[in-house]
Amino acid sequence: MSREDSTRPSGGDSTLLLKPALLVVGTVVAAVVLVFALNGVLAYLGVGAVGPGAPAAQTGGQPATAASNASGGGDGGGGAANTGSVRALPATFSGQKWYSEDLRDQEFAYRDPNAGEEIKFQPKEMNNSTLPENEKRAELVREGRSLFANTSEEMPEHVGNDLSCANCHGGGDLPTTTGMVGQDINLIPLVGTAAGYPEWTGRTERMRDMRQRIMGCFLRSMNSPGSAEGMPAYDSREIQAMESYMVWLNKGTPSSRVPYWRHLEKPEGDEKVPVPEVNPVRGAELYLENCASCHGADGQGIEGQYPPLWGEGSYNDGAGMGRMYTSAAFIREAMPYGAGHTFSNWEDVQDVAGYMNAHKRPHLPRQPKDWAVSGAPDEGIYYDRVQQRHGYDMNPMTKKLMLAGIPIDDSELTEDMIPEDTSRYDQPLRNESVDGSWQTTWIRTYENVGDGTATNQSATNQSATNQSATNQSAITPQAAVTSAIADEESDAAS
Ligand code: HEC
Ligand code: HEC
Repeated sequence: MSREDSTRPSGGDSTLLLKPALLVVGTVVAAVVLVFALNGVLAYLGVGAVGPGAPAAQTGGQPATAASNASGGGDGGGGAANTGSVRALPATFSGQKWYSEDLRDQEFAYRDPNAGEEIKFQPKEMNNSTLPENEKRAELVREGRSLFANTSEEMPEHVGNDLSCANCHGGGDLPTTTGMVGQDINLIPLVGTAAGYPEWTGRTERMRDMRQRIMGCFLRSMNSPGSAEGMPAYDSREIQAMESYMVWLNKGTPSSRVPYWRHLEKPEGDEKVPVPEVNPVRGAELYLENCASCHGADGQGIEGQYPPLWGEGSYNDGAGMGRMYTSAAFIREAMPYGAGHTFSNWEDVQDVAGYMNAHKRPHLPRQPKDWAVSGAPDEGIYYDRVQQRHGYDMNPMTKKLMLAGIPIDDSELTEDMIPEDTSRYDQPLRNESVDGSWQTTWIRTYENVGDGTATNQSATNQSATNQSATNQSAITPQAAVTSAIADEESDAAS
């Protein structure tokens, strides 16, 4: 694909100006920052000097802190880098202060690595002093890191798209990232998360453990049902490795409390634009200005550099990122990459999120069965029932783009496609008609991708019958367990 020219819109693109600056400043700052970061981490760990045997994994790229410093944010990437001297963790955790609701009220202050009174957001290097002593366990942790960083490459038989866990959870092996997987405070960090598991999940009325949570991510974010072998098994080496990595990430943070940086901060109350009023056409305009320089005017990214945002290579229609408010929260905190928090107002991010989630993406066969008990939330715009609740016969965002004549597949968006009267699309426009027959057509297209083995048939017509994951039970008993778990995972956010 000749994306080179097309992804760089001319003029009016602030990130375009920002990027060369980031690179220059980044290179200089990166060196300085790395020294500080390492010293900080070592001080924190009580280690004297940099050991020679540090695995290559931890230095997978430039520190994101370079980018966030350049953007004036100072609140991204590795927390250690922002502070010359890093305060040690309290030897014993006491009281409530570890998790402070107040931090959440201070806009983005809670994403500031220095915001915590009692504790800092503290990324750590992977080396002998942080890895488990038992070599077999240490090996598992290293493997887990690698699977998080390069999921689609390392587990192609289980991943049905082009994503890696690190694309959303930060610090993967892409050229611009830190290599400190799951430890970027702006990209849904997973530091301290393991302490929250096993956890109670209300909707399915059961406990779920870390492995089941990770599997939920495969099911949805990684579109496993669209892969040759479907979900990795509960007891597979891979899932154990990823669980071990989560446990490693948790080491050094107090358990039994929810870290203040855990979970995205979604819009609440007045901050929420009601779904039918979100304007994906304005979103398209904002997308060209703020996102297309990396993710492409066609949303397909650049292989090995920027992940795709829709189409076959993206997360499926049952993923958390496919929800309006979840994706808006992510975009607000994390994007444009290296310059998170650029969008100061909630309306803008919701419009961009609406644009992103107006597009075609893989269909999760069991998606119609999600939220069987409690009802899908209003933000679930890829869900039939939600669309109907909002008074539409299709994804309301898709409908608006179609009305405006803007592509919903992976063809390129150009400036001249954006109509003059963008404010028209603030309205629900429920009663305007467009031909909706495309919907079942593309779903079928995606479902037929691959060799049509057991995991990927069913639900072409989205009728909520008893198909879906049970198909997998035809394969092996282990797969049966897997699909049973997957079935229960209907409320996985990821
Ligand atoms: C400077 C380049 C850059 C810009 C500009 C940018 N992104 Fe990203 N984006 C990235 C990178 C790099 C990642 C993956 C991060 C990683 O792997 O650690 C990413 C990841 C994502 C993801 C999660 C992974 C996926 O593909 O689903 C979403 C969603 C996303 N970006 C949306 C946006 C939106 C919306 C905008 C515009 C507001 C935007 N990005 C602007 C570079 C960029
Ligand atoms: C397309 C983006 C995306 C990808 C790819 C992705 N996730 Fe997530 N993940 C999310 C979102 C969104 C959440 C919910 C965040 C929240 O709780 O606010 C989440 C939540 C999680 C959680 C729970 C966090 C918590 O605090 O309880 C875990 C664990 C997790 N993901 C692991 C993974 C793993 C493992 C992979 C790869 C197999 C993965 N994710 C891939 C978007 C993604």
